Amino acid sequence: MKWSRKDLLGIQELDGDEINLILDTAESFIEVSTREIKKVPTLRGKTVINLFYEASTRTRTSFEIAGKRLSADTINIAASTSSVVKGETLIDTAKNLEAMNPDLIVIRHSAAGAPHLLAGRLRQPIINAGDGAHEHPTQALLDLMTIRAKKGRIEGLKVAIVGDIAHSRVARSNIFALTKMGATVSVAGPATMLPRDIERLGVAAYSRIDAAIGDADVVMMLRIQTEREKHNIFPSLREYAQRFSLNARNIELARPDCIIMHPGPMNRGVEISPDMADGPRSVILDQVTNGVAVRMALLYLLTGGNES
Ligand code: CP
Repeated sequence: MKWSRKDLLGIQELDGDEINLILDTAESFIEVSTREIKKVPTLRGKTVINLFYEASTRTRTSFEIAGKRLSADTINIAASTSSVVKGETLIDTAKNLEAMNPDLIVIRHSAAGAPHLLAGRLRQPIINAGDGAHEHPTQALLDLMTIRAKKGRIEGLKVAIVGDIAHSRVARSNIFALTKMGATVSVAGPATMLPRDIERLGVAAYSRIDAAIGDADVVMMLRIQTEREKHNIFPSLREYAQRFSLNARNIELARPDCIIMHPGPMNRGVEISPDMADGPRSVILDQVTNGVAVRMALLYLLTGGNES
């Protein structure tokens, strides 16, 4: 199968074959990161711009590493140190970057739809590195890759996603990805963190963590997105932790061989106890490792790597 899209804007528009192509391509790149010389010439002469309007550790760094391991020239732009602080608009910034003739632009922005806006206005491929509470497609793809590596399949698995579902682009992209690939998804969180019509996305919704994680093969915990909440939507962090934290007691409700995931950054002691984050079931750092391979695959595919 050939990759045919100009951009990667979300999981919602992808089909299962496209997702499998990305995962298979990512698996073929895993080995590069284990070499002593972690570099292949695949994207030599290509230029990738990482344009980040929001803070990031994992996504920005792994896109930069992914580009460098493929021999692309990678340029990082943080809005806080760019002419954005002088009032330049997103489109003006993007058109000026386009004028320098890069081969691909990665963008993270607090506004849902910002990558779509650029995709319609720029000739370069655009990758969505997270847009507001809308989608974080590369996170969902690295999560699928991690699940497939640890469980051997995605179809038929029971996946529980717990926490701030309403403000989480990770939850939305994962719900789209997991249901397309045949997993059963349950979500749990306080009523103020569950969208009213969440079942329309094909998931079961619960107000208690215990109900969601029963017999789960995969437990995915989410950070409370305080930066996206307009009001206090729960009484206190302590109360939230008492009701929704993953801990040594409630993990016993999941399958004994379940894996524990978290996209990071974690609030230890709030949504996840340290013994769960660091324990033998945790695959949280495997997710980060796989993030480099998934982003290598996307840079490769979107710059025309599998066309010949
Ligand atoms: N998971 C994730 O997107 O982490 P960063 O915000 O650090 O990129």
